Amino acid sequence: MDIKIRKASPLQIKTNCLVIGVFEKSFSTPLLKELDKKLGGLLRKAQRSGEFTGKDGEQIIFQPAGHLPADRVLLLGLGLKKVATLDKIRKASGGATRNIIKAKLSQVAFALPLTDVKSTMADERIGAITEGALLASYCYDQFLSEKAKSDRKLPSTITLLIENSKEKDACQEALEKAQKLCRAVMLTRDLVNTPGNIKSPSFLAEQARAAAEQSKLSCKILNQKELAKEGFGALLGVAQGSEREPHLIILEHKGGQKSDAPTALVGKGVVFDAGGISLKPAAKMDEMKMDMAGGAAVIGTMLAASLLELPINLVGIVPTVENLPSGTAYRPGDILTSLSGQTIEVLNTDAEGRLILADALTYVKRFEPKLVVDLATLTGACIVALGHHATAVLGNDDKLVDALCKAGEQSGERLWQLPLWDDYDQQIKSDVADMKNIGGPPAGTITAAAFLKKFADEFRWAHLDIAGTAWRDQDQPYIPKGGTGVGVRMLIEFLSNYGKDI
Ligand code: BES
Ligand code: MN
Ligand code: ZN
Repeated sequence: MDIKIRKASPLQIKTNCLVIGVFEKSFSTPLLKELDKKLGGLLRKAQRSGEFTGKDGEQIIFQPAGHLPADRVLLLGLGLKKVATLDKIRKASGGATRNIIKAKLSQVAFALPLTDVKSTMADERIGAITEGALLASYCYDQFLSEKAKSDRKLPSTITLLIENSKEKDACQEALEKAQKLCRAVMLTRDLVNTPGNIKSPSFLAEQARAAAEQSKLSCKILNQKELAKEGFGALLGVAQGSEREPHLIILEHKGGQKSDAPTALVGKGVVFDAGGISLKPAAKMDEMKMDMAGGAAVIGTMLAASLLELPINLVGIVPTVENLPSGTAYRPGDILTSLSGQTIEVLNTDAEGRLILADALTYVKRFEPKLVVDLATLTGACIVALGHHATAVLGNDDKLVDALCKAGEQSGERLWQLPLWDDYDQQIKSDVADMKNIGGPPAGTITAAAFLKKFADEFRWAHLDIAGTAWRDQDQPYIPKGGTGVGVRMLIEFLSNYGKDI
């Protein structure tokens, strides 16, 4: 799918399908007036009859039968102009792309009203349109037959029409940035969608190594023996139920000055979470192949940072294990000694994510990071609290949390803060160890973060619980069902803009 920028008049362009964005209640733009005239009043009629009013998500396709050089016109509703955002543009672009793929159209041109989205620049809007189109075109098809694959045809070219040739260079740059970013998001989605039989911890490590080879990242992988020698007692406790060897993946991007302290990203990499001896119920257990989505987001973000040559130093850490019940598995009641030296009473083997993150957060200290962000599909309670529309964020530094929330808003990957008051700490007190790994039913997402805080209090830190946002079981405009790739676009926005001066 080739995407190009062109300064041209929409009504003069020859294409299989001309996509025209229309805001609700604003049919009087010069372009729409001219289009209406050429079509003999069809547009007005459609508006009056309610067939097409420009509401969010509305689409109609028709053939303008000789009145325009385009074979087809797709009218695309953008909703009310005064509430337009970049994410609405992304969704509209994604929705149109899905329809174009369904109709198997080959050459298409997008004329979205580029001047009318408040407080945005032309290049940002081009970035959003590109992201919407590319992310909507994603399909996890590695295990489909050639025939099934070839039934689905992507358009060969999408031409993005712009109004002002002065903006062309900036728009071209935004287009190329979005392409690199989406490549990384798609890698993240592929990793999340890969089934558990293929996706061992070693597989994930190899994929991280491959991403490093395709970019300028450096990659180091610790094996079980090395982890044991270092003293990763919490991580190894979780890993001991599986025959597959655990690893610690370490990726580095060195785009800043040598002396710049790195930002560290840590991602949960549980390749499959059966719950261990505290076994999960059978329903939907298949979805627990996504329990490495935090790790996949870290790998994707590191790749994007390298491709985009961000001028900062970054380190990405992914502890990766499999959580299975077996004769060698850890049990409820076990006491583990973590890398930090703190001891943990395991009262539920299904609360495994916090155990592997505890050791990874301790390990990350040796990089002397300026701040640390971890991402994890950590708690079902997070889905109860926020559903699928926001990632929960908790941390020990409000400036950092605020900057992440802003980046979330801008990228369309929303965050919502939950409190992390000391009051919650008593829920994870143990009689026999320094802490226990569950805090009981109240505030499950917060007590999980309170647990992590015990390993993260020596640096500025934020924890993102992506349990509700990493996987969707229904298609969204630019997120096909399955792994969403959540985290990558928000983190790149944070690292390139909002996080710069904090
Ligand atoms: N990976 C799960 C959390 C999860 C659940 C992610 C559903 C995505 C969708 C995590 O390891 C887990 O099992 N958490 C337990 C914690 C509990 C035992 C304290 C949970 O949420 O039930
Ligand atoms: Mn679990
Ligand atoms: Zn888990």
